[in-house]
Formats: sequence, C-alpha cells, structure tokens
Amino acid sequence: MTDADRGRTLLPSAVEAIGNTPLVELSRITAGVDGRIFAKLDYLNPGFSKKDRIAREIIAEALASGDLQPGQPVVELTSGNTGTGAAIVCAVLGHPFIAVMSNGNSPERARMMRALGAEVELVEQVPGSVVGQVSGDDLALVEARTAELATERGAFRIDQFNRLGNLRAHELRTGPEIWAATGGRFSAFVDFVGSGGTFAGLWRAFKSRDPGVRGYVVEPASAAVLASGTASEPNHRIQGGGYSMPDLSLLDAIEPDGFLSVTDEEAIGAARRLAAEEGIFAGFSSGANLAAALKLLDGPERGGTVVIMICDSGLKYLSTDLWPSS
Ligand SMILES: Cc1ncc(COP(=O)(O)O)c(C=O)c1O
Repeated sequence: MTDADRGRTLLPSAVEAIGNTPLVELSRITAGVDGRIFAKLDYLNPGFSKKDRIAREIIAEALASGDLQPGQPVVELTSGNTGTGAAIVCAVLGHPFIAVMSNGNSPERARMMRALGAEVELVEQVPGSVVGQVSGDDLALVEARTAELATERGAFRIDQFNRLGNLRAHELRTGPEIWAATGGRFSAFVDFVGSGGTFAGLWRAFKSRDPGVRGYVVEPASAAVLASGTASEPNHRIQGGGYSMPDLSLLDAIEPDGFLSVTDEEAIGAARRLAAEEGIFAGFSSGANLAAALKLLDGPERGGTVVIMICDSGLKYLSTDLWPSS
C-alpha cells in the first residue's frame, strides 16, 4: 500500500495503520550545512513510535508459526514503546498483554499502555540509579522479572532483543518505504541503537539494494560500548537505547561503517531544534539521530544525504525537562 492509498482506504484496524510513515527533508535545519537529511516520521504510527512495527511483525510471525496461540497472553520487556505497540496489536487481536518496564522510564508510557488495555508491571531500578536514566543493570532486573512472568502466565515473549521479526519489520517495510520514497538517492543512514533491530533491518534493506550506502551506529557518548567496548557512565538520558550491551544478537554479522557518539545535551538540543525549526515533535533518541547526522555532514559524509529515524513522539516526554515548562 502506498502513502496515497492509505489515506484513501478503509482499514480493518489500527494494526494496518502501522507503517507507511512520511519521509520529510529537514531543509530548514540543513540550510547552512553541506548536505541533506531525510527524516522518517515514525512518531506518526498509532502508538507514536517506530516500535509498533516490530510488535506487529513479531506477533504476526508467531501466530503464523504457531508459537503464539489465539488468545494466549503476551509479555514483553519494554522501555515503553515496544509495549505500546504490543498493547495495540494485542488489543486488536484479543491477547492479554503484560508490559514489564523499569520505573526509570517516563510515567506517561505506563499510563498509555494501561489505557490500551495492558497490565503494566514496573520494576524498581538498581540502588543509586536515577529516574529517567535506565542502565543495562536496570534492564537486567526487568529481564529477570519478564522471564518469571512469561513462565507464571504461560505467555509468549516478544523477546525483541533476540527475535528476528524485530529486524525483519524494518528490513521488509521501513527500509523499502525509505527506498521507494527516495529512489535510493541517499548516501548513509544513522541510528541510535537499543536492540539494534532498526539498524540491522535498515542495513539489510539498503545494503542488499546498494552496498555503497553506509550505516553508522549512534550511541550515548558516555556509554559507547559498541564502538569501544566500555562505558564510562552507563546512565544517560537518551531513552530507548544505549544500554551498554556489547553483544547485541541482532547486530551479529554486521560491521557498521562507523560509530558516532552523542551527549545528552547534543540529543536534547537537536530534539528541540527538530520541534522549533522543522515542526517535528520527537523524543531524545530522534534528537540523537539528528545530532549524529549533522556530525556526519560536517565530517565523512560532507556533501551527502543522510537518512534518520524519528523514533517516537515528544509527547512521551512531557514529564521530563526535554521540553522546558516555561
Ligand atoms: C525511542 C526509541 N529510540 C530508539 C530505540 C532503539 O531502537 P532499536 O531497538 O530498533 O535499536 C527504541 C527502542 O525501543 C526506542 O524506543
């Protein structure tokens, strides 16, 4: 279905409204820059994030394979966005859904999942952690509780860190959508990595069409473990990724063309520019992607065109100081 078709078609549910998001040129921000940036507006999905796509793909694949039975409970570890996507898909398909999330993630995510019919279990952060800064150690606690719940409830685990449906959602849909919108006329993409599903899926989609397209991993400056193997400070403010996990199974067999690191301040500044200059109201990780793309255009990709994901909506961060209250 093309974008134009989607606006003219009666869809059977919100699940079919996932994907086919617009691709927009950030020409106001790049006015004085030697190069172009194209932004994939995935915050316009029904759950306001790109992770709706993977919930849809993983659940569809599991139903097709029989790993998930009709009406069976579904459980997932989430920073909020995969859980929101899963809550939408489960509400439509009639599966109970349990989201397990660190209480370090912003509270509007839990409220939204509950509104969508999910049961939300919040897991305390490790002692000394800061709310709004979810580390790999915090995530390990969430993982342990998710595994327990899956057994207790006889639930299917979405398991976004391991299931290939995560990357296939982007290989089969996000990547081809970007290719179709651009005719393949871009030189590179960047992506702030959480599970690595988006990066790996776009990598496969683009490299199979043109091996010359370059893919750069984006990480928090204090936790650039994929680039360097170590984190000087695992806590950072860029929610949704940067978990200091050196071995991401979805990135197996991928040698990124480069690594970029972004500070909290750079991500925040770029997210504010996206809103104020481009009218795109997005979250921290989208800011990280923009900040990284600008670095590339001031460096190895000068004169090129960089594709970025706008991962989720700024509305998910109204409780944080990403958006100053006055
Ligand atoms: C807001 C946000 N940005 C970035 C990411 C990272 O995406 P991926 O898991 O595909 O690497 C996520 C993942 O949950 C996210 O929620």
